[in-house]
Amino acid sequence: MLNMEEWGDKYLIGIEQLDEHHKHLYDLLRESYDLLVLKNNNDGRIGKVLDSMSDYATYHISTEEDWMHDLKYPKQTEHTQEHLEFVHRVSEFSNNFKNGTEHLTLEIVTFLREWLVNHIMTLDKEFAAFISNEARFCEMTASKYH
Ligand SMILES: [Fe+2]
Ligand SMILES: [Fe+2]
Repeated sequence: MLNMEEWGDKYLIGIEQLDEHHKHLYDLLRESYDLLVLKNNNDGRIGKVLDSMSDYATYHISTEEDWMHDLKYPKQTEHTQEHLEFVHRVSEFSNNFKNGTEHLTLEIVTFLREWLVNHIMTLDKEFAAFISNEARFCEMTASKYH
């Protein structure tokens, strides 16, 4: 694979804010992939992209979990568990790369991409479906009583 596949509408879950976050995370992965392919690590660029990735993943996840908390999402625990694993992996790769104990490879970046896409397409979509059901329920009750 010469380039990482571009972000596509098929990954949208229909919640604008979270979709923007997902695209941004995906783009950071593509950027690190490109830098690796080009063997361009001038001024530690790859390390910087990994840092942004790690910070942004934490930010996105806390936003998503706030939504779940506010909506009393019944599957939050299970979902949060996957988030924790992802953040852990990203920061582990990032730290090891910076310490020189791990050679960041295309396999690792590809692994993170697969993980992200898989998570979006399963657990995040499931959560989005829950939100739209809740919204429909609210509309139904609102029209019933007003
Ligand atoms: Fe998620
Ligand atoms: Fe997400």
